[in-house]
Amino acid sequence: QQTLYFSRHGESEFNVIGRIGGDAPLSPRGRMYSKSLARHVQDLKLPSLQIWTSTLQRTKATSALINAPQQHLPELDEIWSGDCENLSYEELQDRFPRELALRDREKLKYRYPQGESYIDVMQRLVPVLTQLECETNVLTISHQAVLRCVLGYFLETDPEEIPYIHVPLHTIIKITLQGYNYNMETVKMPV
Ligand code: F6P
Repeated sequence: QQTLYFSRHGESEFNVIGRIGGDAPLSPRGRMYSKSLARHVQDLKLPSLQIWTSTLQRTKATSALINAPQQHLPELDEIWSGDCENLSYEELQDRFPRELALRDREKLKYRYPQGESYIDVMQRLVPVLTQLECETNVLTISHQAVLRCVLGYFLETDPEEIPYIHVPLHTIIKITLQGYNYNMETVKMPV
């Protein structure tokens, strides 16, 4: 039996103002989550716990208070939105209305100009997924689009549904794998 834990980073300053991509720091609420996450995870007393985060400051700050070995992997960075990085959805609507319409139509395949699609993210995640399949007690702290791809892989979600999987902030997702069976539990942290 293997147990894998997943979480999005705590709320970032960009989450607060609805901007995509970028490398914003945590908001005050996000910093509260990093404290309660550390307390919760430490209380679980998981043997040989490892933390894998992206290379962006919001995931590193979310894991900073957890006392366990940490790796920061570029494969876990958020979907790269290319020319649309750092924009709000309203600015996207004003400046790239055609792009947004295309994305709405085919969210899985849609690739941002100079950026990535969900399919691209799935492909760059393959080495990490292969490694995760052999691990237990890894807490992966990443981002909305990336975690949709990771959960979709383990839960065998229809690929077209992957870009819409609900991955809320401030929630710890635990997946237990036993042979071909899996069980998923979520714990919403009060922050
Ligand atoms: O809004 C937070 C965020 O992580 C963005 O950085 C990213 O572009 C987006 O979510 C991915 O979600 P969606 O594919 O639904 O836009």
